Amino acid sequence: MANPINYSALKKNSPKIYSLIKKEEIRQKEGLEMIPSENYVSAEVLQALGSILTNKYSEGFPGRRYYGGNEVIDEIENYAIDLAKKLFSVPAAIVQPYSGSPANLIITMAVCEPKDVVMGLSLASGGHLTHGANLSFSSIFYKAVNYEVGKDWKIDFDALEKLAIKHKPKLIWAGTTAYPFKLDYKKFRKIADKVGAVLVADCSHITGLIIAGAHESPVPYVDIIMTTTHKTLRGPRGAMIMVTDRGMKKDPELKTKLERALIPGAQGGPHNHTTAAIAVCLEEALKPSFKKYGEQIAKNAAVLAKELGTISETHLVLLSLTDYGYGMGYQGQYALETAGITVNKNSIPNEPVSPFYPSGIRLGTPALTTRGMKEKEMVQIAAWIKEALEEIRGHDTPKEKEQRAEYIRNFKKEIAGNKKLLRIKKEIAKFTEKFPVPGID
Ligand SMILES: Cc1ncc(COP(=O)(O)O)c(C=O)c1O
Repeated sequence: MANPINYSALKKNSPKIYSLIKKEEIRQKEGLEMIPSENYVSAEVLQALGSILTNKYSEGFPGRRYYGGNEVIDEIENYAIDLAKKLFSVPAAIVQPYSGSPANLIITMAVCEPKDVVMGLSLASGGHLTHGANLSFSSIFYKAVNYEVGKDWKIDFDALEKLAIKHKPKLIWAGTTAYPFKLDYKKFRKIADKVGAVLVADCSHITGLIIAGAHESPVPYVDIIMTTTHKTLRGPRGAMIMVTDRGMKKDPELKTKLERALIPGAQGGPHNHTTAAIAVCLEEALKPSFKKYGEQIAKNAAVLAKELGTISETHLVLLSLTDYGYGMGYQGQYALETAGITVNKNSIPNEPVSPFYPSGIRLGTPALTTRGMKEKEMVQIAAWIKEALEEIRGHDTPKEKEQRAEYIRNFKKEIAGNKKLLRIKKEIAKFTEKFPVPGID
C-alpha cells in the first residue's frame, strides 16, 4: 500500500524531521506495540489530521464563533457531533477537548466549585491522574477522595460507598487506566444516587469495547461520558464529552456549563484538523467491521492474560512481576523493549515497592488487533514475553532507595546487549511482516 501521506516536501526541506518520522515508522512496524492506550489510526484519519484545517481559528461552537470564515468548519464540527450522538445514543456531544486530561478538567469545572469533593479510583489502584491524584489539578483545586481496589484487585464497592457517604462528593469518576476487569456502572449509579453526586464515566480505555458490545455501555447509568478518541476508538489524539438523557434531565444546563468550562474556561481555538479526523474515526466505528475489531481486542487480551498466568476481561493485562524479583517493573519494560515489545512499567495494587520503582507491567491488545493478529498470535507473543522476562531474574531493584536510580540506569545499558533478547527482536521483526500497519507502507 502506498503511504497515505506524501512526505516529498518534508523530505526535501526538513530532512531531519523526515528522517525521524521514517525511523519511528520502522519502530512502529517492526515491533509489537502493546501499550494498552495506543493504537494505529487508519490512512483516512491520518490524511484528515494532515489537512489544511489546522490553519483555521474557530473559538466558540458551530453557529457561535468569535471569528469569521467558519462556515466549513461549522459543517465539519456539526458532522462530528452528529456521529458521536449516533454512535453513543446520547443527546449532546462536545468534540473540541484537546485531549483526555483537559476534558476531565472541563468536566470538573462544569460540575464543581473549587474545593468541592471529587472521588475517583486512586492512581495506585489503576485510576487516572485527573481523577484525584496528588499534583493533578483534581487534587490541587478540589478536595480529592480516592477509592481503592481490594485484595482481589477489583473495585471495593462497599468501601467506596462508605467513603461517599462520609465525604458527600459532588462528582464521582467511574473510569480506569490500569484495570483489567469490567466496570459495574449500575453499582456506581446506586452510590451516586445515595449521595446526590454527578456520575461521570471516563471510558477512554474501553470505548472500542463498548461500541463492539464487549463491555457494558455506561450510557443508561451515568450523567456524563468522557472518552479520549485515540485509544480503542482508534482515532486522532483528542477527546469527546457527552451528556446522557439522564444527565440532561438532572440538569438541563449541563451542556451549556460544559461548553462554558471549555471556552472561555480551559481552552481556546479548537483543533479543526483533529475534529475532522474524529469524524472519520467515528464513521469507521459505526461500521459493522468495528464491532468485530472490538470483540477481537477482548478475545486477544483474554488469551494473552491466560498464557501469562492472569486474567483480563478487557483489552488490558496488568502483570505482576513479583515472581521474578523485587521491584521488577523497569527491568521488565527494558527487557521487553530490547526484544521489540513495547509495554509500560506499572504499579500493582497494594504496590509492595514504590510507584517510582513499581512491581508490574501493563500491556494490551488494541494495536496488535488492528494489525490483524488473533488468538494464535497471542500465544506466540506470550511465549516471547515469558522468555524475555526470564532475563530479568537476579536483577532486583536495590532495597536502598538512594542506589535505585543508578542501578536501573546500568541495568538498561547492560540489557541492551542481551543476545537472547536481540534474537527475539529479530524473530519479532520477521513475524510482523505478515501484519501490515495501516498508514505505513
Ligand atoms: C481513563 C483516562 N482518562 C484520561 C486520560 C487522559 O488522556 P490524555 O493522555 O489524552 O490527556 C487517560 C490517558 O491515559 C486515561 O487513561
